[in-house]
Amino acid sequence: MKKLILYGLIGLFALQMKAQNIPIPLYLDDSKPIEVRVEDALSRLTLEEKIAMIHAQSKFSTPGVPRLGIPEIWMSDGPHGVRMEIDWDTWNHAGWTNDSCTAFPALTCLAATFNPELSMKYGNAVGEEARFRKKDIILGPGVNIYRTPMNGRNFEYMGEDPYLASKMVVPYIKGVQQNGVSACLKHFALNNQELWRGHIDVEISDRALYEIYLPAFKAGVMAGGVWTVMGSYNKYRGQYCSHHERLIDQILKGEWKYDGIVVTDWGSAHDTREAALYGLDVEMGTWTNGLTWGESFAYDNYYLSKPYLKMIEKGELPISTLDDKVRRVLRLNFRTNMDRKRPFGSFATQEHAEISRKIAEEGIVLMKNTNNFFPIVKDRYKKIVVIGENATRSLTVGGGSSELKVKKEVSPLEGLKAKYGADKVFYTMGYGSGPSVYDNFIPSPYNTDSLKREALALAKDADVVLFIGGLNKSFQQDCEGADRISYDLPFGQNELIADLLKINKNTGVILISGNAVAMPWLDKVPALIQSWYLGSEAGNATANVISGDVNPSGKLPFSIPRKLEDNGAISFGAISYPGDSIRQVYKEDILVGYRWHDTKKIPALFPFGYGLSYTTFDYGKITTDKKEYSKDDIIKVSFTLSNNGGIDGAESVQLYASQNKPSLVRPAKELKAFKKVYLKSGESKTVELTLPVRDLAFFDDKAHSWVVESDKFTLHCGTSSADIKSSIVLEVK
Ligand code: BGC
Repeated sequence: MKKLILYGLIGLFALQMKAQNIPIPLYLDDSKPIEVRVEDALSRLTLEEKIAMIHAQSKFSTPGVPRLGIPEIWMSDGPHGVRMEIDWDTWNHAGWTNDSCTAFPALTCLAATFNPELSMKYGNAVGEEARFRKKDIILGPGVNIYRTPMNGRNFEYMGEDPYLASKMVVPYIKGVQQNGVSACLKHFALNNQELWRGHIDVEISDRALYEIYLPAFKAGVMAGGVWTVMGSYNKYRGQYCSHHERLIDQILKGEWKYDGIVVTDWGSAHDTREAALYGLDVEMGTWTNGLTWGESFAYDNYYLSKPYLKMIEKGELPISTLDDKVRRVLRLNFRTNMDRKRPFGSFATQEHAEISRKIAEEGIVLMKNTNNFFPIVKDRYKKIVVIGENATRSLTVGGGSSELKVKKEVSPLEGLKAKYGADKVFYTMGYGSGPSVYDNFIPSPYNTDSLKREALALAKDADVVLFIGGLNKSFQQDCEGADRISYDLPFGQNELIADLLKINKNTGVILISGNAVAMPWLDKVPALIQSWYLGSEAGNATANVISGDVNPSGKLPFSIPRKLEDNGAISFGAISYPGDSIRQVYKEDILVGYRWHDTKKIPALFPFGYGLSYTTFDYGKITTDKKEYSKDDIIKVSFTLSNNGGIDGAESVQLYASQNKPSLVRPAKELKAFKKVYLKSGESKTVELTLPVRDLAFFDDKAHSWVVESDKFTLHCGTSSADIKSSIVLEVK
């Protein structure tokens, strides 16, 4: 009887609800425009709820609004794959067993492909993995410009040229975000070194800021439509970049009309008032210095938590800037975890492994190849000796926040054994480093002499020796939190390579790194490959290029100076790099990378844009559609490219421009267009490139605007920044 009455009551209640036809709240109605939903949600929030939304509740999440069903926001590093789960409140790995991802090649490798289509595939695949792992933001890509070879984090960025980085970053962002996951452009801005990154105060001209260091961020925002930007740790003009009036309020949100969120780097907020007023939207990682443990459960004490609430309540800070932050966070919610139509993602799939391998194959750079040392076709040799720690070391662990736990990582040695047969490939370490530790140098536990003796003994009667070394992801190498301490290869590799060459001249070198290194043995080495942190398919990609199953087509995304002092920033001494620990001045100004080498006539050992192929390409004469242009025109450039070697291959053609008589100093030439062209052996194609005249502008810091002067300009078409095949002069009126 009691049951009957209960069911009756429930039925009645349901009927009544139906009769009233309770409408769903406006903010949940996805037929309505996002801005309408944002305003509706905002109007329902209490002050405390607003404050809760703009700072962390754990290492990688913010709490959302449980009362209204507005979800938590979950973030993960980034940028080369989805990082393993981290503890709620410490930096420890959480020890989950379902978080082993696909590792994609480091962003230096992606840049070296000169192939924006691969960047789209990369972004989409990482986006799918992030989505499957229930992440709303993936903390990448990074586009800080490669200023010196000493920056421990260059491997996470896209090289020294703002045009290349701009073209490569946009598709990555679009690829990620089509999964309903936000990309996060980092680290905004001027975070070009790790040493003293937490406080170094950068002094730079507006020209260098606008021409070199901002364009890739601007492209990510305006052409890529990125939804999250991360502020950097360092200062600029005396103010911390994560709540920087000029960088964030005036440039990012003002000039570029950015409507997404600005999140701190972990622990880069320093002041409530500035954070409130100068555009910081979400505070993460405070008091952990990004790396170390902080006061546990300190989230209430964050600059954008209780201290902010109190200042608002006292009337010391306005509610309007808080509302602006909350609007942006809500917009992010609607774009990601409140988008009912977003896909579900996929994780560690074969398809992702193949994309990863393809990017790796296209990014590997053939640097020197005397007497066709490469390719080493199958059955050419009986005894292939492989030497070097990087042939077997995991290079997906370490490096700092970009560390990954992978489902699969094929080492170069495994790749070579699979390619040539385990009975033909022999290995010894030759040199050894210590374990990868984030913030400390651990000396090598190995005996250098005995490792070397063993290597020389094995190499002696080898048909061919492959030395696979370079840098690794340990402290003071290619690793976050510190810069390199030497331009040389570490762990006695230079001496080892020299000795190997004495004992067996048929020794080729494969360097794996994210940075340029000194190469004192270069003249004696018959062949050299520059490889990168290639991710899950490293070994297969490497073996495919070495064997000739894949014809290399990568191009250097940065210059390799002969000696460190040949780098522009470093040539000006400590105040330019690394600074005096408080402040630094970017003295080379706009002359970064090849702009320095070319303009100052200091040839690089290997120039930006350089890379060989197993075939050869012939460049025809460059022509333009007109001789004279007005400032709104688009210049159409064409020439014939032929593959006149014996095998199919791809060439990344590069178009540089120089102005004849500029009123301000300009670099000798600057990259303005590129295209990767695939040609069968014997095939010729007409290559067409376009270049808007307005891209010939420089930034006039006095007028604070981009200016194209009426003048003659020369366009150079080349296979690298130093090897120009054909040039043409045109006039802009
Ligand atoms: C790094 C960021 C990273 C964040 C979260 C910081 O130390 O600089 O790039 O996304 O930590 O791990």
